[in-house]
Amino acid sequence: MKLSSLLVLAISVATVAQSSAREPKEYDRDVNYEEERLPAYDLPKLLVTPEGKKIKTAEDWHNIRRPQILALFSNLIYGRVPEPVSPIKQTFEVVKTDPNFMGGKATRKDVKIKLGNDRGEMEMHFLVYVPNKATKPAPTFFKHSFNNTKSKDFDASPNDPNRLRNGWPLGDFFDRGYGFCAVYHEDLVGHNEVSFLDSIHKLFYPEGQSFPKASEWGVLSTCAWGAMRGMDYLETDDDIDHTRVAIMGHSKMGKATLWTAAQDERFALAISAQSGCAGAALWRRKSGENLKKMVTRFPYWLCRNAWKFVEQEDDLPVDQHMLLACIAPRPVYVHSGVDDTWADARGEYLSAYHASEVYRLLGKKGLETEESPEVGKAIIQSDVGYHNREGCHSIDAFDWARFLDFADYHFKK
Ligand code: GCU
Repeated sequence: MKLSSLLVLAISVATVAQSSAREPKEYDRDVNYEEERLPAYDLPKLLVTPEGKKIKTAEDWHNIRRPQILALFSNLIYGRVPEPVSPIKQTFEVVKTDPNFMGGKATRKDVKIKLGNDRGEMEMHFLVYVPNKATKPAPTFFKHSFNNTKSKDFDASPNDPNRLRNGWPLGDFFDRGYGFCAVYHEDLVGHNEVSFLDSIHKLFYPEGQSFPKASEWGVLSTCAWGAMRGMDYLETDDDIDHTRVAIMGHSKMGKATLWTAAQDERFALAISAQSGCAGAALWRRKSGENLKKMVTRFPYWLCRNAWKFVEQEDDLPVDQHMLLACIAPRPVYVHSGVDDTWADARGEYLSAYHASEVYRLLGKKGLETEESPEVGKAIIQSDVGYHNREGCHSIDAFDWARFLDFADYHFKK
C-alpha cells in the first residue's frame, strides 16, 4: 500500500474512533470541538481595573477589584438578588433526627428552612449528616443537589453499606470525619423557570412585577441564594464546623457552586465538578457549549443581560477565570472529564490556571503551567486543584476520592 493510502486509512480510522466516542446530539451538531478551529481571544485582565489601575496588593484586590468583578457577574451574567419587598423571616426546624444512619456511622437531620414575608412563604428541605465517630464540630461537604433531598435517593442503600441509594459514597466521608449536607435545586425555583411567581422570587417582587428585570437573578443565582440559607442554618448547628464547609456541585450545580462560593466567603472551599459553560469554562473559547446554546436551551439560568453577549463574548468585561479568582484565597478544585467535551475540559483548566494569578497575589499556590496535566493526574497540594479523568459527564469513584483528598489537604493540615 502506498504511503498516501496508508495516511488516508489512518485518518479515517481516527475519525471513526473519535465519532464513536460520542454521537452528536441534535443540539450540538453546530458547535465547535476542535482546538485548531478556536477563535483567537484576549482575556480581560484580572489585575487591572477598567480605569487602568494596576492591582498589586491583597488589600486592593479585596477592596477594589474583587467587588468590581462580582458586580459585573451579578449584573451581566447570573443576575443580582433584588431587595425583598419586606424583610424575610427565616426559621429552622429539625423535623426528624436519625442517630443510626448507615448502620450508626452518622446522624441524619432533616431540617425545614422556612422563608416568608407578607408576600408569601417558601420552604427548603436541608439534609445534614453528622459523622458519629468524628470529633465535633465536624467539617462538612455541602452539595448543591439535582436529587430531591426528600426522596429515597438519600436513604442508605440496602445493597451497599457505604453508599446512599443514589450511589454517593457517604460512608467514605463519615470515615474520614466529614459531615455531608445537601440542598435540592428545585426547592426555591424551577429548573428553567418561566413562572417566577411560583418561586422564591414572589417574596421579592413589588405589586405588578412577575419576572426578573434584565439584571436580576436567574435560576443559578437563585440556587446560590438558597445554598446561603443552608449555610445560615449550619451556623446554628454545633455539630458542624461552619468554618470548614466545602461547597460542591456537578454540571448545572457546579455552576451554582462557583457563583455561591465567589459571593459568600463563609464557604471555605469550592469544588466544581464538570461545571462547563457558565461554570469553570472560559466563554471566549466557544468550545462545546457556548453562550448562544445556553441561553436558547435554558433562557433563565442566567440573567437576561447575558443574552446581549450571544456571539459577542469578546465584549464581556469578564470571563470565567475571574469568577474562580473571586473565591481566592479559599481553595478551589476543578474537575473535568475527557469525553465531557460539551463542558470543555481544556477551557475549565485554563480558567483555573488564569485565576491562579490572584491566588499568587494573595500568597497562595496556584496552577503553575498553562499545559493541562496528564489525564488521571490530580493536582491536590495547591490552592487551585484540578483533575481530568477518562470518561463522561458524571462524578465517579475516582472523583469523590480526589475531592476528599483536596479537603483533607486543606482542612486537616
Ligand atoms: C445541559 C447544559 C449544561 C449543564 C448540564 C447539566 O447539558 O447544557 O450546561 O451543565 O445540562 O446540568 O447536567
